[in-house]
Amino acid sequence: MNQDYQRIEQLLARRIGLGPDKLSPRQLIKAVTIRQKACGFNNVSDYLKRLDSSAHEFQELVEQIVIRETWFFRHRQAFSLLRHHVQTQWLPSRSRDTLRILSVPCSTGEEPYSIAMTLLNTPLSSQQFTVEGMDISQTALTLAKKGIYGKNSFRSHDQVDYKQFFEVEDNRYQICPSIRNQVKFSSKNLLSAWPPNHPPYHVIFCRHLLIYLDDVSRDRVLKVLDRLLANGGLLFVGAVETTLIKRDNFRFMSYPSAFAYQKVSTTSTKFPSPPVRPPKPQPRSPLKPRPSAPLSKQPEKEIQRSSLEMAQQLANQGKLKEAAQSCQSYLQRNPIDAQGYFLLGEISQAQGNLEAAQRCFQKAVYLRPNYREALAHLVLLRESQGDRQGAAILKNRIQRLDNLQG
Ligand SMILES: C[S@@+](CC[C@H](N)C(=O)[O-])C[C@H]1O[C@@H](n2cnc3c(N)ncnc32)[C@H](O)[C@@H]1O
Repeated sequence: MNQDYQRIEQLLARRIGLGPDKLSPRQLIKAVTIRQKACGFNNVSDYLKRLDSSAHEFQELVEQIVIRETWFFRHRQAFSLLRHHVQTQWLPSRSRDTLRILSVPCSTGEEPYSIAMTLLNTPLSSQQFTVEGMDISQTALTLAKKGIYGKNSFRSHDQVDYKQFFEVEDNRYQICPSIRNQVKFSSKNLLSAWPPNHPPYHVIFCRHLLIYLDDVSRDRVLKVLDRLLANGGLLFVGAVETTLIKRDNFRFMSYPSAFAYQKVSTTSTKFPSPPVRPPKPQPRSPLKPRPSAPLSKQPEKEIQRSSLEMAQQLANQGKLKEAAQSCQSYLQRNPIDAQGYFLLGEISQAQGNLEAAQRCFQKAVYLRPNYREALAHLVLLRESQGDRQGAAILKNRIQRLDNLQG
């Protein structure tokens, strides 16, 4: 790459925090070529001058570069934990206050809408909470405000009953007004300044952004999030991003696959905030539990499935060792079950054993080549190891899959 491209990389790092190793030279050249042509320049040097001086053109390049990948109830356990937190901690002590939630980056809106759907399934009324969605991409925000989605936005393997929140027509899912009105969208570069006395949020979702930032920008963003989050508040990050949070006052919550931290006060060592109690066994769906048949009447296959559910429940209770054992014994009886390997991968990840997690996700993909969630986990793990090429190959595979399903 010539010097002009390197300067563009530096500009992107300075203004939006994008790590230079997060974008392949091919991706950068492609995005720049598209914008250079759209502006009518024959060479990159002239385009760079425009980019340097025009905020509008910089935004256009950002639109070409950002990855807007997201879907409803991504990492479904995060939403289970949110609901659990509201029911066991927020409502008993703060029911008169307004629960303030931020989703940044919110991309095309699936994440903040999933938050609103989750909260409307708790005793909270719509007046008792607010959800703000922020993102740097105008394209993403326009789609978020429209709230019309295709099949691609529904990739969670859950039995979530989405229908109650959408008007469905010809495979188009229009979010219903009660959910749409609950979320306020605005444009925000997370690296830009925030007003000094911005009111704090009680929950922040900042998922799948930190992984794309360079070290300095990530540190800046984490400081901002720390300032924006109220004491006792929850910070949700992406699966692989847990390896990036190294702040004394963020305590990792033992609720597997939710990838959440609770902000604790470091000034008072005498009265630390109480640890979040693991939840009672929960159904997998964040919205509608499915009743299961009594054990004695269940056929063998279902008994085995419920033993996988048992592993999930143990994991939810924070009993990671027991959950891993239960999952392993399930896999001994069902050695070709992709979902079992996927769960064991998530448990290993929550235990911080990323190598074991990677092996499990690989096995899951081997057994079920179209296992999108497992592929997505592998992409993030490869990226966290700096294996850009490996991650890019997997991303292409996901893209092909999405095109087929699209
Ligand atoms: C992969 S999406 C994540 C969406 C959602 N949080 C999730 O986990 O599914 C990443 C989003 O980050 C946004 N983004 C990138 N840099 C940003 C920045 N500096 N400030 C705010 N948003 C940014 C992009 O526009 C994109 O929509």
